[in-house]
Amino acid sequence: MAGNQRQEYQVLTGVGLTAVHVAAARAAESQRSDPLFDDPFAADFVTAAEAELSFTNYHPPAAQDTADLWSWVASYAVIRTRFFDDYLRDACAEGCRQVVILAAGLDTRAFRLSWPAGVRLFELDTPEVLTFKDHILTERDATPACQRVAINADLRHDWPAALIQAGFYPAAATAWLAEGLLMYLTQHERDQLLERISQLSAPGNRLAIEYNSEYINQTAVQLMIDSLSRSPSPDEAFLKTLWQSGTHEDPTSWLGRHGWQAHEYDAGERAQSYGRPLPAYHGPVVQSALAARRGLIIAQQP
Ligand SMILES: C[S@@+](CC[C@H](N)C(=O)[O-])C[C@H]1O[C@@H](n2cnc3c(N)ncnc32)[C@H](O)[C@@H]1O
Repeated sequence: MAGNQRQEYQVLTGVGLTAVHVAAARAAESQRSDPLFDDPFAADFVTAAEAELSFTNYHPPAAQDTADLWSWVASYAVIRTRFFDDYLRDACAEGCRQVVILAAGLDTRAFRLSWPAGVRLFELDTPEVLTFKDHILTERDATPACQRVAINADLRHDWPAALIQAGFYPAAATAWLAEGLLMYLTQHERDQLLERISQLSAPGNRLAIEYNSEYINQTAVQLMIDSLSRSPSPDEAFLKTLWQSGTHEDPTSWLGRHGWQAHEYDAGERAQSYGRPLPAYHGPVVQSALAARRGLIIAQQP
């Protein structure tokens, strides 16, 4: 990134960097001849972030075991992206005209999916991430395919006020999405987030989340540390603070307690159904990830 452009956005750090990892997986997918989706902006995000951070690339670090884990996580991120693409398409086909993407990161669904007329899509994330994202999208002259509203918000605090101020109507049919977020919140913060979503939700509203059990968080921490080890000043202690907790309670019960009827989908089964089975595991770090439970969940308010 040219020196004069550096003034316009901050280098992504901390949890914001995880959005670049997901973008890297989507960039690689978009280069395939048989992609499960096409994200034409993902590579630009990665290139810009790499330039800022002096990374040679985001891909496999030295240790083979971690490289295997990265390969698995990247493949999983692709399945997850496709699954939630379909969720949002289905929700809009069935009448939702409001979409709220919590912790949107470098998600470009507003630009790359076809939306029915009248869809308003709200993206919430930190100012650091959204400024970086908008800078790259503006450089690309990207035009959203719906009405996109980006909102700077800390999802641990009072984000509903900002959402309503930005034009969100609680009574309208809405599809919510929290993808790649919950592990960065404590149990209390997750409960609070779900309470707030529920308070803003009308009957029939939909909510999709990704859920991780505790164990994946440990392996993910290791992955992050290794992936970032070539950054100018990797701060292991700080990275470890990113992962707050996995979910101990069964996620469908958790959603049920908050009034949602939830159905859990298995990522491995979804991957098979897309003709893209998740890669085989090798090595102890990756084997340990086998113990993790992760699910893709779609819920609805009765
Ligand atoms: C792994 S990325 C996922 C991004 C996107 N959902 C995707 O799947 O590509 C995690 C995102 O969560 C955001 N995030 C984490 N904690 C947050 C918080 N308290 N408030 C707002 N955003 C947060 C980060 O900035 C980052 O963009």
